[in-house]
Amino acid sequence: MDRQLLTQSLHFRHACKLFDNERKIDSDDLRFILEAGRLSPSSFGMEHWHFIVVQDQDLKALLRPACWDQPQITTCSDLVIITAKVDDPVRRPYYEKMFGRRDMAPQMLERYLDIYQNYVNDLHSIYSWSAKQCYIAAANIMSYASLIGIDSCPIEGFEKEKVEKILLLNTTKEQVALIVALGYRVNEQSEKMRLPFDEVVTFR
Ligand SMILES: Cc1cc2nc3c(=O)[nH]c(=O)nc-3n(C[C@H](O)[C@H](O)[C@H](O)COP(=O)(O)O)c2cc1C
Repeated sequence: MDRQLLTQSLHFRHACKLFDNERKIDSDDLRFILEAGRLSPSSFGMEHWHFIVVQDQDLKALLRPACWDQPQITTCSDLVIITAKVDDPVRRPYYEKMFGRRDMAPQMLERYLDIYQNYVNDLHSIYSWSAKQCYIAAANIMSYASLIGIDSCPIEGFEKEKVEKILLLNTTKEQVALIVALGYRVNEQSEKMRLPFDEVVTFR
């Protein structure tokens, strides 16, 4: 893999504030990007996410006021609402199924299940644990979009309860973690500002 191209892609990605609402993402490209979300790592392999892809303009328009009226919401091609599972990961049938996919001896499976049960019993918030995993998926979604020349914007600026209401979510099962808008930029991106490498990396 060409490192220079990969680094260029990291620079190409930016929080796009305005998308060209005439340009739609091709369905194969969209699938490629969403696969990067689906194939993301998650704690204990619980795949804590659900990707709701909003393509309907009327629904985007309904969501925009609940998302700090940000223009990305209505100008993007696809609005990916990433919800965090708040029930399945603590339900035995679900996690037994998830662990059961692995090729391991029954005794080993029981040990895993014990460790997992103790872990989730100690969690302060299933929502925040699941949401953390959703952020990993979001990062992959944005990186892979960028690799194929598609712009994105991660969006945390929204009123969670309002968004959940508009989407008619059963919040005992899933709650919004964050939103990723995808599409094509209208304006040139501004200069990337980052702290210097040596300030953020320490080798010991
Ligand atoms: C979790 C998260 C939430 C964000 N929420 C918003 C948002 O609601 N609206 C927005 O315009 N940008 C949002 N951003 C974009 C950041 O402001 C942006 O990534 C940061 O300033 C660095 O700029 P760059 O991504 O263009 O390099 C968010 C970024 C992250 C990681």
